[in-house]
Amino acid sequence: MNDFSEEERESLYKAIYSRRDVRSNFTSEPIDEQVLMRITSEPIDEQVLMRILKAGHHAPSVGFSQPWNFILIKNIETRKKIKESFEKEKSRSSKLVEEPRRSKYLSYKLEGILESAINLCVTYDPTKTGSFVIGRSSIPATGVFSVCCAVQNMWLAARTEGIGVGWVSILSNETLRETLHIPDHVVPVAYLCLGHVSKFETKPDLETSGWLPRLKLDEIIYHEKWLQGKELKPTVQ
Ligand SMILES: Cc1cc2nc3c(=O)[nH]c(=O)nc-3n(C[C@H](O)[C@H](O)[C@H](O)COP(=O)(O)O)c2cc1C
Repeated sequence: MNDFSEEERESLYKAIYSRRDVRSNFTSEPIDEQVLMRITSEPIDEQVLMRILKAGHHAPSVGFSQPWNFILIKNIETRKKIKESFEKEKSRSSKLVEEPRRSKYLSYKLEGILESAINLCVTYDPTKTGSFVIGRSSIPATGVFSVCCAVQNMWLAARTEGIGVGWVSILSNETLRETLHIPDHVVPVAYLCLGHVSKFETKPDLETSGWLPRLKLDEIIYHEKWLQGKELKPTVQ
């Protein structure tokens, strides 16, 4: 049984292949001379935002635990605190890579915290539906996997709405907890920046800039056993 028409199927693949991580190209509202605020991006229509969040809420989850919460952040002061954490973490992590890649890494724009219309922190609450969750006892990480499924649903839904999404993981979870009043038992999983964009790039920025290539599909498929019949060639020296 397949109740997707060819056109419907194509639409889904279009969303998958044209989805991008967006850090630049967020569109701003024309500058209001009186308020002189450049920082405010073109707002996302409330109904569009709700459709995106609903797509997230319809993700698969281990034992149907729906362990996610969505914290919507518009406040600029809050976002500035998060951006500070980004700057700190970016500088700290740059020490983990040698030149010339360090300079390249530092030159990348890796967030759109202030320029986007809204930020969204997606959290994992392991206690939400009680301590016993079908399917989570053997592999506890399935809880966080479920939250990632929600993120991907939102990322794809946003793409079909013409809304760009960027995932910022160069952040301190401690700062997120403090700033957003997230309790200790809840884990911040994803910090996302959403907004209208002037364009979606056709390739990942990290591919275009030569950081890494897309691996060949054939290289990542094994048959029957790990690595069977293949020798992995490192793509990065
Ligand atoms: C878990 C996760 C964390 C990420 N963190 C960042 C980040 O901190 N900054 C950034 O610019 N992109 C981040 N990205 C985006 C990836 O760099 C991006 O998905 C990848 O380069 C492929 O590009 P594409 O999403 O446009 O296909 C993250 C993506 C994932 C899935």
